[in-house]
Parts: sequence; C-alpha cells; structure tokens
Amino acid sequence: MWIAEKDDVVLVMEWWCDARYMGEYQDVMTKTLAEFEKIILENTTFYLIEKKDGVKIGHIAGWMIGRTMEIGFALIPSERGKGYGTEAIRLMVDYLFLTKDIVRIQVTTDVRNMASQRVLEKSGFVKEGTMRKYFYAKGDYRDHFLYSILREEWKEPKILTETTGKIK
Ligand SMILES: CC(C)(COP(=O)(O)OP(=O)(O)OC[C@H]1O[C@@H](n2cnc3c(N)ncnc32)[C@H](O)[C@@H]1OP(=O)(O)O)[C@@H](O)C(=O)NCCC(=O)NCCS
Repeated sequence: MWIAEKDDVVLVMEWWCDARYMGEYQDVMTKTLAEFEKIILENTTFYLIEKKDGVKIGHIAGWMIGRTMEIGFALIPSERGKGYGTEAIRLMVDYLFLTKDIVRIQVTTDVRNMASQRVLEKSGFVKEGTMRKYFYAKGDYRDHFLYSILREEWKEPKILTETTGKIK
C-alpha cells in the first residue's frame, strides 16, 4: 500500500477516465488535472494498491465523516478476481483502526455489485441496509447498500495475525 504522491496523479487520472477501470456501476470522472490533484492530494486520504513487484494495480480512497472513515476502491480489470481486493481491504481496515481515531469504516456499493459485496463481507463488514436512489450513475439513480465495520467488531489486526502468526 502506498500513499499517493503528485507523481501518481496522472496514473489515477488515466484509471478514472477509463470506463473499464470504473466498472459497471460507476461513471468515468471527467475533471481537469488540477481537480484530480485536489481530490487525490488534498480532499481524500489516497492509497495505491501495489503488488510485491511494485506494480500499482488499484486504489483505495478514504474521507472522514465525523469519526467515520468512508472508503471507495477499485482494481485494474486484469488483476480482479485474484483475491487482491480482499487482501487490500483487510489490510486497510487493520491500518485505519491502528492509526486513526475512528469508530467505524463504511462503504456504499451498488446493490448489484456482487464482487464488492463479497470483498466487504470477507473483510468483516456488516450490511446495514439499503440507501434508495443514493448514487447517480449510467444515467439513473441507483440503490446502494451501506456496509460498515465498527472498531469493537474489528478487535485485532487480522492480516498481521495471518501473515506472521505473532499477534493474537
Ligand atoms: C470490487 C473489486 C475491487 C473486487 O476486487 P477483486 O480483487 O476482484 O476481489 P477478490 O478477488 O478479492 O474477491 C471477489 C469475490 O467476489 C466474487 N465475485 C466476483 N464477481 C461476482 C459476481 N458477479 N457474482 C458473485 N460473486 C462475484 C468472487 O467469486 C470472489 O468471492 P470468493 O472469494 O468468495 O470466490 C473489483 O472487482 C473492482 O475493481 N471492481 C470495479 C470497481 C468497483 O466496483 N469498486 C467497488 C466500488 S464499492
């Protein structure tokens, strides 16, 4: 995981202007480079998902709402379905609860976005309910599910526990 820097903005801009990256449930973002810079470097906490060989394959963006951190995420199409999304979200949940004074992390996702829902469920998120006509995409208002994980549900850093076996 890598905190985005100015040099990363063009790569993220390329991703967000590409309908394949944004997926079936979100529109591409048409903004200027300056606007992208503001979103990535100022308005959000922006992480790039990196493979062990250093190749950047996706992003997780976070923004605060009171003491809740909301996140959004995506991977490049060629790296989907290999478990990276789940690994990245679980790692991010550990990192956020370990480093931020937050009580919960939340995500909203299109009710038809099964891959996203599966990643969230495998990462310990709980479905809270449906937000009707919450998000405008592809020419229509879409229903979203709201998912969250509370600090008391998280309890311990799971990725570190699994990878080192040292934290119990
Ligand atoms: C959502 C996303 C990040 C998931 O990342 P990923 O690396 O592909 O996810 P994983 O491989 O870790 O897990 C995907 C899970 O969804 C399941 N899945 C994928 N497509 C599915 C479908 N159409 N129906 C049911 N399950 C599906 C997979 O089987 C897997 O579950 P399993 O491990 O139980 O078999 C990725 O698909 C993506 O970038 N999508 C486009 C952008 C997007 O929708 N972002 C989320 C916005 S909230």
